[in-house]
Amino acid sequence: MSEVRFQAPRGVPDYVPPRSKDFLRVRDAISYQAELAGYEYIELPVFEHVEVFTRGVGEQSDLVTKEMYTFDDRGERELALRPEGTASVCRAVVENSLALGQLPVKLWYAGPFFRAERPQQGRYRQLQQVGVEAIGVVDPLLDAEVIMIANSAFETLGLNNYRLLINSLGGAQCRSEYRVALQTFLLDVMPGDMHARINKNPLRLLDDKSSDVRSKLAKAPSISSFWTSSDREYFEKLRDTLIAAGLAPAFDERLVRGLDYYTGTVFEFDHAELGAQSGIGGGGRYDGLLGALGGPDLSGVGFGIGVDRTLLACEAEGVFSTEPSRVEVYAIPMVEAAQVACLEIVTDLRAFGVSADMTFGERGLKGAMKAASKSGARVALIIGETELAQSQVTVKDMNSGDQEVYPVDAIAGQLAVKFEKS
Ligand code: HAM
Repeated sequence: MSEVRFQAPRGVPDYVPPRSKDFLRVRDAISYQAELAGYEYIELPVFEHVEVFTRGVGEQSDLVTKEMYTFDDRGERELALRPEGTASVCRAVVENSLALGQLPVKLWYAGPFFRAERPQQGRYRQLQQVGVEAIGVVDPLLDAEVIMIANSAFETLGLNNYRLLINSLGGAQCRSEYRVALQTFLLDVMPGDMHARINKNPLRLLDDKSSDVRSKLAKAPSISSFWTSSDREYFEKLRDTLIAAGLAPAFDERLVRGLDYYTGTVFEFDHAELGAQSGIGGGGRYDGLLGALGGPDLSGVGFGIGVDRTLLACEAEGVFSTEPSRVEVYAIPMVEAAQVACLEIVTDLRAFGVSADMTFGERGLKGAMKAASKSGARVALIIGETELAQSQVTVKDMNSGDQEVYPVDAIAGQLAVKFEKS
């Protein structure tokens, strides 16, 4: 045997059973809410031409300058593993002319994204998101819908200990005036070695986590004082809609988010038990992005929810108290001659939509019963010599231990009724 034992690259998590089941529960709970709201699935490529992200996310953003995995393919085209989904969705909407019909175009996606960040708990180099994007309508109610979909997903998962933060970056006029004001303020109070960063993108400093920078930022101008009256009206309508829907948005004037395409509404969901990597999801409006990618001048709003972090949040809150069962029925052939009969029964059960597994290989009754119990099955089916001779099957209720005997022909149909599959 070879001495080599491989490990996954640093920051690239495996999700193995039984935890992988919880990973799927989280991912599917989010996408289910998107489907309920009429968002349609879009399957995006895992790599794109690098310009989709340099133009889309912003040439100056950390995501593009520091965190993107780029490579040249054999034709020497410069490609990048997708660091996020919004730019790809906009590229696909333009390329496939999806925005010619009724608006908004509502899409959802899920899968891995890649960021060359320093790995730690909750911060991975391969991260998983479910995202939604609604293209083509500027309406605070649509922003509210997007936020409410994320909130419903967290709620249905059973999460409680999280907050919703909202802000607005205002319109173009507000953003350019604010940028100048913030730059002037920061150049005045920050040390010289930070000036290059401030000149490049002063808004980035608002995200800075160091306590020194944060204390100096306390007196920084607030973006809301640069809002136009229509920026304010839009924000207030969004906030009031969310409150009327029973959410409790907290206004965070420092929330700007790290991607350069945002315009207007920005939001984030923060979980209290995740330490430094507390953001379980976030998003906002990006009204110039389709245009920047060569498309029509259409608006957009959406979110990306981190599945890895939402799973960690679910675990921190203990929302998955029961281990999910792997199958509903587990069949045990007690003699070799009963193996085919068992395989036929589990196949029939699966055809009814009842999940079923059986013992394979040589195993004594004790080992087989242990496997049945570990599978989480509600019912074990046992076929020994006697049952085989009489075309019968013993049905054991795994909770009560009660046993009954049924004809082999009828068992799949009976269990389908019992499990409400027919
Ligand atoms: P983002 O804030 O960069 O936004 O990522 C969204 C979520 O992905 C974060 O809130 C976090 O939960 C998760 N996430 C990000 N980086 C990592 C990481 N290194 N490890 C684990 N989880 C991570 C976007 O990506 C935007 N495309 C969202 C959006 C959609 N905006 C508008 N539409």
